[in-house]
Amino acid sequence: MAVETSATTPDDVLDCIRPAVRNESEYVVGTPPDIEVKLNQNESPFDLPDELKDELLDGFSEVEFNRYPTEQPDRLRHALAEHNDVSPESIIVGNGSNEITYTFGLAFLEPGTPMVLPRPLFSLYEKVARLQDADLTEVPPRDDLRFDTDGLVQAVRDTGANLTVLATPNNPTGRALRLDEIARVASAASGIVVVDEAYVEFNSEPSAVQLLDDHPNVIVLRTLSKAFGLAGIRIGYLMAQPALVQELMKARLPFMVDRFAEQAALAVLRRPDLVEERVRQMQVSITEVREALKTFDDVEVVPSQANFVIFTTSRPADELQDQLAERGVLVRNMSGYSELEGYLRVNAGTRAENKAFLTALEETL
Ligand SMILES: Cc1ncc(COP(=O)(O)O)c(C=O)c1O
Repeated sequence: MAVETSATTPDDVLDCIRPAVRNESEYVVGTPPDIEVKLNQNESPFDLPDELKDELLDGFSEVEFNRYPTEQPDRLRHALAEHNDVSPESIIVGNGSNEITYTFGLAFLEPGTPMVLPRPLFSLYEKVARLQDADLTEVPPRDDLRFDTDGLVQAVRDTGANLTVLATPNNPTGRALRLDEIARVASAASGIVVVDEAYVEFNSEPSAVQLLDDHPNVIVLRTLSKAFGLAGIRIGYLMAQPALVQELMKARLPFMVDRFAEQAALAVLRRPDLVEERVRQMQVSITEVREALKTFDDVEVVPSQANFVIFTTSRPADELQDQLAERGVLVRNMSGYSELEGYLRVNAGTRAENKAFLTALEETL
């Protein structure tokens, strides 16, 4: 029997994709070959100690590979609740915090929904706004690249934003908001205010978790990818009031955290001493890098409360990034953000990695 051929052309097929998706570009960081010193994704330079990895590998043989995990990783949810002194019902764990941002899009944004974002902000949030066809209002930064709290308060009031996102310390700038500034935005907003705290462990300012009791519209987003050194394992989580969590769970896919990732996260949470020591080392590391950068004639550095700094020189950032990469050092060109034309971002490395970066920069400049 002859099989009918398709009347649809490959172009017709692509027309099935929503314009909001077709207009996007794929998120690609891209690591060129021959990179020895990787300082471009704000990761921890420290992998888990061998003895902890061995312990995990032993534990993996106990895992039933043929069984689904629970919908939410219950043991991890409890451990994270204890870590943050909140109830397990206040937590949703995801496959990295990036993955959870899509739940925000599904739950809070329809075409035309008012949304407010400060600039320059971790680009994923703008992408979520575009993918959902939200009505986005962006608030420009102050001259020192800090978020403009007055501008944000005004914008959430004027637009009636259903969703506002803050990040503190913020990526890409490293600048932080004070708790009272976050509280002002949350109090002014009639909608949800997400506070992305991916870098909170590096900052001396208290966490917005404190606001959860009095502000039912606040969601705090966290990750184990930075201070906890688990970027490859993919664990992020949110904290909010249980009533909100319960509703958000309706938009979640089940089983987003596999049994291995849960065990790895639990193992690290059982070692607060290790995490604290590493955070301290990363803080020392980034301070050393910042101080060293300040000694270059042609470099201007932005103050940062995170494990990375951004800096600018008189040279085009793409050219400088390529020349550093030729010397085996990878940093990130930030020029894609309109306010950060000419800026590069470098994260805290080991002593040897920092030295390699600074030597390469000196040779290049
Ligand atoms: C502000 C911010 N939020 C979230 C993330 C991503 O975290 P995760 O690895 O948990 O998806 C990053 C990573 O660079 C970030 O800078």
